Amino acid sequence: MTFHINKISSIIYNRRSSKTFKENQDIPMEDLLSFFEAARWAPSARNRQPWRYLLFTKQSPEALASMRSCLDEKNQEWANKAPVLILSCAEIADDQGTPNRSALHDLGLANENLLLQIRSLNYNCRPMGGFDKEKAALLFNIPKNIQPFLVIAVGLPIRYSNLPDDIQEMERRPRERNEMQTWVHLDQWGKLDLQN
Ligand SMILES: Cc1cc2nc3c(=O)[nH]c(=O)nc-3n(C[C@H](O)[C@H](O)[C@H](O)COP(=O)(O)O)c2cc1C
Repeated sequence: MTFHINKISSIIYNRRSSKTFKENQDIPMEDLLSFFEAARWAPSARNRQPWRYLLFTKQSPEALASMRSCLDEKNQEWANKAPVLILSCAEIADDQGTPNRSALHDLGLANENLLLQIRSLNYNCRPMGGFDKEKAALLFNIPKNIQPFLVIAVGLPIRYSNLPDDIQEMERRPRERNEMQTWVHLDQWGKLDLQN
């Protein structure tokens, strides 16, 4: 089965993860707040809204440097140029210790809203799982029932960057996905041909 990509919302098909950012260009607070407002409207189990975010900007260079120091070395190569980092966390249990088993799922929904909003305002962004979560929890006094999960680097796009060639090539490469026929099943598991 083929499906025309232009039948899905352009916000969805134009989203991509980028590693290039204008280093010294701040993002206005109004735009930053719009990213979180988009996250706010994500669906969640029993409307528990388990997403939590920590925002790091150049207004607080020490905190931004601390967040950068948690990133894996490979991520720091490019993410240290982003003027904004967002640490995304999930409230995995309530104050009584009752776990929320949908927390990471719902955080993912909120994060996708956030990424789409970032891109819709023409900023570049890239989510990263590669960072030291224990270190971040310690550095930023994150309570035990809140799980740090993803860091999102955000900044204005830059046309020319001095990043290594392989990164620059990656920025231009078409995004790739598995064919739908290999993962959408019809009626029962194993029946993959949507046309029959
Ligand atoms: C949970 C998660 C963790 C990720 N971790 C990293 C990471 O540590 N470093 C990185 O460069 N990209 C990371 N990415 C970005 C993915 O590599 C990227 O989303 C994927 O290649 C698809 O590309 P696209 O977002 O442009 O469609 C992560 C994405 C997600 C959702």
